[in-house]
Amino acid sequence: MKQPTHVNRALELTETQGLDVFAAAVIEGFSKPRKTLPCQFLYDARGSALFEQITELPEYYPTRTEIGILREQASEITASIPDDSVLVEFGSGSSIKTELLLKHLPPTVAYVPIDVSPSALSEATHRLESRFPKLTIYPITGSFTDPVELPLSLQQRPRVGFFPGSTIGNWTAEDAVSLLASFRGVLNEHGRLIVGVDLKKDARTLVRAYNDSAGITAAFNLNLLVRINRELGSAIDISNFRHEAIYDPLRGRIEMHLESVVEHTTHISGRKFHFHAGESIHTENSYKYTVAEFQDLARKAGWSTGRVWTDGGAQFSIHELTARPNDPERTSPVEAGKVVQECR
Ligand code: SAH
Ligand code: AVI
Repeated sequence: MKQPTHVNRALELTETQGLDVFAAAVIEGFSKPRKTLPCQFLYDARGSALFEQITELPEYYPTRTEIGILREQASEITASIPDDSVLVEFGSGSSIKTELLLKHLPPTVAYVPIDVSPSALSEATHRLESRFPKLTIYPITGSFTDPVELPLSLQQRPRVGFFPGSTIGNWTAEDAVSLLASFRGVLNEHGRLIVGVDLKKDARTLVRAYNDSAGITAAFNLNLLVRINRELGSAIDISNFRHEAIYDPLRGRIEMHLESVVEHTTHISGRKFHFHAGESIHTENSYKYTVAEFQDLARKAGWSTGRVWTDGGAQFSIHELTARPNDPERTSPVEAGKVVQECR
């Protein structure tokens, strides 16, 4: 018999429900000496759709590489997941990769996808409902940096986190430690976490992946300005900006920027913002790690590192982490719910 999908009330919230949060983030980010915007705002309905197009670009190797590893290794990766687990996915998007795990798991597993994008979450939920009719799904619309509350009926079950896509790379190393520590809080002391992490490689491959020839990544980045105009009623001239993606080998990160090509002034929510020609808004970091560098981060966040799966070309890695028991001598580096994301 088909079990009911536990549709979180938040799923019914509109795209613009978090308007105050968005306005505050834009004003704060644009008021800094170096203008920034947190990259979670890239994912309105159009942004999520553009991201899906990015994942199919020939230049954007991470998605197909991670899917390849999951296809080959799914039975090994899922082997240690208990039959009655709750699978919590942080930034679930289309949940395409999750399907590869679910195919190897019994329908007794429950699935909790968390995403800031209501459109991505509802599309994925409906697709999974039809493909896995016996699966209990409890979608949560919102930021995974906020405290995550599982429904009462699932609270006693073992918890396994899934954090694919190298979304961890969109956080500075310091913030990534805080975020992974907060996930440990959500998944509790017996939890496990499966994390996808993009690996360091030559700068040319990296820059091409974030500056594709079809201009989809440019549209994804510029869509932030379209979103500001639509949701905050401003009239930014989008043609005043261009997409830029650069690799900083010292920091090991791709930076996405929106560069103002002309000097101009614009008004947002009653405030005036001036742009010099060549000045940029820093919109995203995408950190690349070696396996050892990521393992070091995970350990600092209270996880024990375990098996690691990579592709033949060593482009991408998937890590299995298990929660390390609390050390009473050491306080946890962060408390859940206090994690912030900033492009620095
Ligand atoms: N896990 C999917 C999607 C990765 S794209 C995959 O591997 O293909 C990153 C996803 O994280 C997007 O769907 C975006 O909406 C979501 N996201 C970004 N920041 C978030 C946040 N702070 N809280 C919840 N979801 C977030
Ligand atoms: C979701 N995140 C890991 C993607 C990345 O590669 O940093 C987002 C993205 N930005 C541009 N292209 C893809």
